[in-house]
Amino acid sequence: MPLITLSNRAAFLSCVEDLLHTPEVQSMRSLPHHPGVNCYEHSVFVAYVAFRIARRYHMDYRAAARGGLLHDLYLYDCRDASAHPGNQCLDHPEFALRNASTLTQLSDKERNIIQAHMWPLAVHLPRSREAWAVSMADKLCATVEVFQLWRRMKLRAVLAA
Ligand SMILES: [Fe+2]
Ligand SMILES: [Fe+2]
Repeated sequence: MPLITLSNRAAFLSCVEDLLHTPEVQSMRSLPHHPGVNCYEHSVFVAYVAFRIARRYHMDYRAAARGGLLHDLYLYDCRDASAHPGNQCLDHPEFALRNASTLTQLSDKERNIIQAHMWPLAVHLPRSREAWAVSMADKLCATVEVFQLWRRMKLRAVLAA
């Protein structure tokens, strides 16, 4: 079964299209994340995987997609230690939440998705199945990116165009 079908892609876009083309979300393209992958590509990847998990298991897939897209909207270069006050693992979800809150009206579930996505390296525990889905998707996508499987799977052309 293909990773991305037309109906999945259309349903995914209907959840996040208003956010996807904002200058804030687009600006993640200029921020490095994992080797060869920028923050925008990572965020779209996580959002799509979380969306698929949520849709498959009859969860709130819109919240999973939107929370997934915004989970790393911290908007600074993570290699620059002076860009945030403390530990990147703990700091960046709070920056992402602040930026996401100015971009759109977040539900409580979406707020928790962003704050808890680094669990267990997070102050906040995931409080919904969607928050767990995004946290798992984040780790799965990070693994695919770090091991360069991202390139081999040619996901950039499909997900982050
Ligand atoms: Fe993150
Ligand atoms: Fe992430």
